[in-house]
Amino acid sequence: VPRADPALAEFRLRMSVRQAAAYRDVFGPVTGAVLPAMVGAAGPGAGRWALDVGCGTGALAAALSGAGYRCLALDRSAAMMRDPHGVPPPHGVVADALALPVAPTAADVVCAAFLVPHVDDLGALAAEFRRVLRPGGRVVLANWCGPEDSPFNGLPLRVLRRYARSAGLDRALIRTDPAHLAQHLTVAGFTAGTVELVRTTVVLASPESWWDRLLAASSGLAAALHSCPAPDREAARREFLAAAARYANQGAVSVTAAAYVLSASN
Ligand SMILES: C[S@@+](CC[C@H](N)C(=O)[O-])C[C@H]1O[C@@H](n2cnc3c(N)ncnc32)[C@H](O)[C@@H]1O
Repeated sequence: VPRADPALAEFRLRMSVRQAAAYRDVFGPVTGAVLPAMVGAAGPGAGRWALDVGCGTGALAAALSGAGYRCLALDRSAAMMRDPHGVPPPHGVVADALALPVAPTAADVVCAAFLVPHVDDLGALAAEFRRVLRPGGRVVLANWCGPEDSPFNGLPLRVLRRYARSAGLDRALIRTDPAHLAQHLTVAGFTAGTVELVRTTVVLASPESWWDRLLAASSGLAAALHSCPAPDREAARREFLAAAARYANQGAVSVTAAAYVLSASN
């Protein structure tokens, strides 16, 4: 068994902390816009138990607590579970979404914002959410819309997909369709629910900063780009900048970001 290299471990830790900070900086204001719709879909708290799975900073857990829920915030990455001041969410637990440290039927509501592109097996995720939910409980999921509705994330995704063969990008693209996600929930035994779209406008300094910031903040996009040979990386960047020019006005970019909030009953 190779001995762990402490310098490599330290390097990886620093990279994950840096990427977590970039994620908060770039995506935080956008993902924050879906929180009211998610809390609305969860219904009144009144002391009931909610889980925020794949919680990141725990902004959703905080919004659920504000609505009267008792809330557990779970994420598999300790680096992601930090607010901009480095403070972890209250009741934060490092745990995998596919093996939640939660007793069967203990939760009234399970929420997950922008987790689904990161999980390989959606069927297993839906089954785990059902296991921890009480009968009649609700699942509330948010995810990005596709390139047409949400060019902020979708345009870089679409351009990169032309250069990188990546299961992660394919997964992210197909899961921008709420019907795909709804089908997994139905197969797991959830009953049909609701879908709400949330749109925001993101302003960025330039097309170059749009590309650079998204790649710094998104581990999936960065991994796909780095899997390409250097000339393809440069070609993808050029193709993106050409496509992004239509969102620019006097240099600055103004582009739509859209997400859907899907909820269903157990
Ligand atoms: C795109 S971020 C979303 C963070 C936060 N929910 C938000 O809306 O800003 C996805 C989060 O899911 C976490 N994650 C990915 N796979 C996971 C898994 N299998 N179990 C638990 N957390 C996971 C990541 O560490 C990351 O914090």
